[in-house]
Amino acid sequence: MILEMEDFKNKNEMYAHLDSACAAVIDRRDDVISSLSNASSLIKKYLIHTNWVGFYLFRGEILTLGPFQGEPAVTSIKLGKGLCGMAAQEKKTVRVDDVAACDNYIACDASSASEIVIPLLKKDRVLGVLDIDSTMRSRFDKDDERGLEKIASSLVRLIYM
Ligand code: SME
Repeated sequence: MILEMEDFKNKNEMYAHLDSACAAVIDRRDDVISSLSNASSLIKKYLIHTNWVGFYLFRGEILTLGPFQGEPAVTSIKLGKGLCGMAAQEKKTVRVDDVAACDNYIACDASSASEIVIPLLKKDRVLGVLDIDSTMRSRFDKDDERGLEKIASSLVRLIYM
């Protein structure tokens, strides 16, 4: 399997490949935790310079740590708190080029420099978020945002519908 960004013509091609890879390993009959574990593994492999890839899922009103790859992380996040809580509250992707300059940020891994959080939306309902950290500043651009929103919507379709 081709895993390095350099092996793809561009990010769009990489995200299309990642989308197919997720569809190939995720079986609708599998448990949600199993499926999201495999998804976090694949996303981490495809996205170079990432140090944390994982999911926070709503358990009641609290975003609760789900399957991830990376350092141990905060287990509970309230709506509106941190970048994860903000993405869930606004139902929109939050992309931060320099987390050190961000007020509403919950630090987990000191080596994280930039971050993107994508809400997992089932129609208008937020099931949780996909959170990705990078050790590089400004790691994520508009192409990543579009690509990851597509991945998030595919995951919701594959796992929750
Ligand atoms: N930085 C996140 C918290 C989760 S960790 O990055 C894994 C936030 O501000 O919500």
